[in-house]
Parts: sequence; structure tokens; C-alpha cells
Amino acid sequence: MQKSGTYILAIESSCDDTSCAVLRDNTVLSNVTAGQEIHRLYGGVVPELASRDHQKNIVPVVDAALKKAGIVLSDLSAIAVTAGPGLMGSLLVGLSFAKSLALSLNIPLIAVNHMQGHILAHFIKDEEEENEMPAFPFLCLTVSGGHTQLVKISDHLQFEILGQTLDDAVGEAFDKAAKILGLPYPGGPLIDKHAKSGDKTKYKFPFTHVPGNDYSFSGIKTSFLYFIQNNSQKNENFVCENLEDICASYQHHLISVLLKNARNVLKETGIKQLAIAGGVSANSELRSQVLELEKELSIKTFIPPFEYCTDNAAMIGITAYYKFLRNDFSDLSVIPQTRIGI
Ligand code: KG4
Ligand code: ZN
Repeated sequence: MQKSGTYILAIESSCDDTSCAVLRDNTVLSNVTAGQEIHRLYGGVVPELASRDHQKNIVPVVDAALKKAGIVLSDLSAIAVTAGPGLMGSLLVGLSFAKSLALSLNIPLIAVNHMQGHILAHFIKDEEEENEMPAFPFLCLTVSGGHTQLVKISDHLQFEILGQTLDDAVGEAFDKAAKILGLPYPGGPLIDKHAKSGDKTKYKFPFTHVPGNDYSFSGIKTSFLYFIQNNSQKNENFVCENLEDICASYQHHLISVLLKNARNVLKETGIKQLAIAGGVSANSELRSQVLELEKELSIKTFIPPFEYCTDNAAMIGITAYYKFLRNDFSDLSVIPQTRIGI
């Protein structure tokens, strides 16, 4: 018997996570992700190894997502997939798989922008309790390993960038600093962990002046390298004796930089709602500074559940749901786009 509702199977493979989710309308029935440990050996994502692992993982991940959702392929209304931005080889695996599946089932294919996905994760309906979703317009600070953006969202599929990084993403500033400290990849969560028992006021880092509401993190990253090198010359045990305080101070600085521009944009535009999205939105200092900003500016803030912060297919599925409602489908000629605006 045909099930009621729209069933979308979504695939995300833009970087080093192979993920598949099944959604019924705006609720998530399953969201299965296989990470890739291999990159830890190299201190960063190796694109060729990432695409090979996606090839190995994609069939079992899709199979597990279908089983967990309790549906079969013939129940599906559409196939969604990340088409960019991301790594070429990684995107190709997901996109080729999704095209073949849509073609064989004779159902629509929906190509999704990964950055839109991070933001629209805020519109996933919780099955257990009524969750409040942002109203339009709202501002989203999207912070990940590859992006740092301040985006105004005027409708589910209407985005305008009001500020962004001119060089490195904030996730990269976390990960590179962790590497300098000898922590494994990805170091962002480890900096967060060590920072918990540290003194965030102990060390100071520079603010880079950037006109408007854009960001720059490469100078901060370099100043961190010199800070560690200089102090380690004076005391070879500097890092291990002060790891917690170093992590807390550096993390506090990065998050303060992020929120300085967000505060400006909120004041300039009069927007009364702020959401955060992307891998770095899992960061505890960001979460607590956002709550302080909520009180300071009398605004409403939206912090995503942890499972929808880092890369996942549920966020691709929810974006595809809004595209489905608009009959916004892709044909089989769609190609991966490694660099694409929002
Ligand atoms: O969104 P995401 O999973 O992948 C990209 O699209 O880039 O973000 C990954 C980034 C990495 O830089 C990782 O270190 C960072 O998110 N990250 C964190 C935390 N959890 C993940 N950074 C700081 N604190 C965290 N708790
Ligand atoms: Zn991402």
C-alpha cells in the first residue's frame, strides 16, 4: 500500500562523511553517517582517500538508512543529493549514486547546496516535541571547516550573504591551531574539550581589521603559530603545561571575532533572530556567547541539535523537501560544483 506523505532519501558526501537520511515531509525517519578515520593519519582530509571511502560506504549507509526508516525504495517520492560546494571526487560519488537511483526508480532528483542545507537544518521538525523554528527574516552565522558566512534568510530558499571570510574559515583556524598543539584532526572538538577547564582570559590574540562585516582568520592563525613557537623556545613544556588555558583563550578569541560582526549586522539590519549552523556551531563557547547575545540585544536565538551541526544528510533532505514543494527538480545533466555561492 502506498504510504501517505512525501518520502525523500537524501545523500551527503561533500567532504569526508558519507551520510544518508530518509525524511517523511519535514521529519527525519533516519540519518545514518559513516565517518572516515583514515584522514587522522594525515592531519587533514586527503581528497582521493575520501572519495574511495565514499565508494565503499555509500551502499551500506543507504541500506541502513532505509531499514532504520522502515521503508522500501518503492515508497520514495524523490532522491536528494549534495551537488556542491565540496570536494570534486567526494561529490561525484554521491551525485552519481543519486542520479542512478532516481533514474532506476523513475522519481525526481533534487540537487542541494550544502551551505543551504546547514541553515535549513533549523526547519527539521522534532518528532517528539513541538520545536520552534526561525521566522523570516533571520540571520544565520554559518561556521564550518570550509565556510564562515553571515547570511540573511528571507524565505526557505532565499539567501543573501551579508558577511563572509576573505581567507580561511573559522573551522580551519580551529583545526590548524589544534595541529600546532599536536592534537589529531579534526581538532576543533578537542580544542573545545580542553578549553572547558582553562582560563579564557589568560592569553590575548590580535583582532584583524577587515572593512564591513567580512572576516579574516589567516592572520589570527599565524599569530597563534608565532605565539606557540616563541613560548616553546623559552619553555619546551609550554604547550603541555598550559594546554587548557591556551585552548580556552584561543577559542574565546575566535568566537568573540565571530560574534562581533554578527552583533553589528543584527544592529544594522534590525533583524531580531539569530541562528547558528555548521560544524563549529557544536562549539560550547559559541553556544554560550550566543545565549549572552540573546539577552544583550533582546533577540531570539536558534542553536541546532548536535547531530545536525556537522555534516549530515538530514539537512540535505529538509532542503530538498522545500524544493520538492516548489517542483524545483534537477535533470540528469547536473554536475558537481566544488565552489558555488549560496
Ligand atoms: O560542517 P562540517 O562538519 O564540515 C564542513 O562542511 O566543513 O564542519 C567541520 C568543522 C571542522 O573544522 C571541525 O573542527 C569543526 O567543524 N568543529 C568544531 C567543533 N565540532 C566540529 N569546532 C569547534 N568546536 C567544536 N565543538
Ligand atoms: Zn558542512
